[in-house]
Amino acid sequence: MKIMVIAAHPKLTESRANRALLDELKKHDEVVIRDLYQEYPGYDIDVQREQELLLEYDRVVFQFPFYWYSCPPLLKKWFDDVLTHGWAFGPGGDHLLGKEFMIATTAGGTERAYRSGGDDLYTISELLRPIERTLTKCNGTFLPAFVVYNADRASNEVLALEAKRYAEHVRTSLRVLAH
Ligand SMILES: Cc1cc2nc3c(=O)[nH]c(=O)nc-3n(C[C@H](O)[C@H](O)[C@H](O)COP(=O)(O)O)c2cc1C
Repeated sequence: MKIMVIAAHPKLTESRANRALLDELKKHDEVVIRDLYQEYPGYDIDVQREQELLLEYDRVVFQFPFYWYSCPPLLKKWFDDVLTHGWAFGPGGDHLLGKEFMIATTAGGTERAYRSGGDDLYTISELLRPIERTLTKCNGTFLPAFVVYNADRASNEVLALEAKRYAEHVRTSLRVLAH
């Protein structure tokens, strides 16, 4: 299975959690990692190149720090620019049919907070629904997300363990992930 991870962190050099996840993934040759903010510092996304890349991979993972219950702005622009009418959805827009998509996100909040009655009120799955629907509208298969909670307070040891869990999750087959 060919896997592409599109990482979108506005300040990856200052990151602990996302960097830990990416450092572990780099040990796995079958996973191609891209740094969206490094590739497009001026937000001028090359739509044709991005669409061609999407076609090459079976599974695409969007990895980002959870910012205001959503993704950082360059990734939102990537969705806006790349998932075009007539290519990703609508008449003739069947290029992503059956493509597997996954979200991997790191959150400052705890898992206990992300639930009904908790500080953050909703689960991450509920909060990711706009992205989920975007990708299913484009005929993709939306896989269970990978989440690191309490990311700012997690020790390096905990982050290293989470990173190993992440590398497993990213490479787990659809059949096992979605049962
Ligand atoms: C602008 C901004 C918005 C944030 N919004 C949220 C949020 O809505 N929910 C949350 O749990 N954490 C939030 N955080 C915390 C980040 O998710 C957390 O710092 C990040 O996931 C840690 O990963 P990193 O070490 O890779 O930067 C926010 C942080 C910033 C800077």
